Amino acid sequence: MIESDQKKVWKARAATYNNLKWVNNSTLKRAMLEHGRFGRTHSVLDAGTGTGVIASLVAPFVKEVHGIDISKEMLSFANNGHPNTVFKEGDVRKMTYPDARFDRVIARNVFHNILMEEDRLRAARECRRVLKKGGWFILQEGVPPHASLKRDFEKIFALKETRATFLPEEMASLLKQAGFAKVSVNIIDDKDFDLKNWLDNDGTLSEEVKQKIIDMHVNGTEEFKKHYNLRASAGRVLIDTKAALVIGEK
Ligand SMILES: C[S@@+](CC[C@H](N)C(=O)[O-])C[C@H]1O[C@@H](n2cnc3c(N)ncnc32)[C@H](O)[C@@H]1O
Repeated sequence: MIESDQKKVWKARAATYNNLKWVNNSTLKRAMLEHGRFGRTHSVLDAGTGTGVIASLVAPFVKEVHGIDISKEMLSFANNGHPNTVFKEGDVRKMTYPDARFDRVIARNVFHNILMEEDRLRAARECRRVLKKGGWFILQEGVPPHASLKRDFEKIFALKETRATFLPEEMASLLKQAGFAKVSVNIIDDKDFDLKNWLDNDGTLSEEVKQKIIDMHVNGTEEFKKHYNLRASAGRVLIDTKAALVIGEK
């Protein structure tokens, strides 16, 4: 998939993106605020800001937030009313900011959209470049609930989108390769993830594909259902998911 395809995908997904429960999930938001240790004097970059949810979350606690994204349609929903926030088009793989501009760089659920390994490394190096010495890069991604389920996770997502899948240690290794010295891994439990809400608000899926994805969960192996704590009743399927929040210090 080339860059213009990614733009097309996010153009189609923008209108329903904010209806996704995980996007505004309070557990994930709390984890970002706690682990990010944001300070009043901080300049923050939200790289791949989308509709600006994380930029808006952080804005009240810092000096300024810049949100960049390749999709102007996603950005069109990012007007958050915080006077210390600026949103603009930009690509995390090649940013126009000078070196050492920010105290924190955040990328939540962005790197799985960067399909080529060398592009992800370039993007991580860019995030490091624009950080001040001692600044933090906070990389967050949804991860399989157990390493043994990586292949199942990939198969399910392949029905939905073209993307990369990471285990937490692979995210840590990317940050080390990009030159970050101290790297820490935090796993966040995101319970009661509602499959129907996720699929209905994707904005691109046919009823047939949605049903296939539900079936792959409900008919998964016992090990799959155990790691996901899968519960199905009255047309709803709930699972417990995990996100990795990996922090690298420059
Ligand atoms: C799943 S959304 C995440 C949005 C936001 N970070 C959040 O947590 O709600 C992924 C976003 O990454 C953006 N994106 C994908 N590749 C990008 C790139 N190379 N540079 C900047 N943004 C990118 C997409 O346009 C989309 O808005």
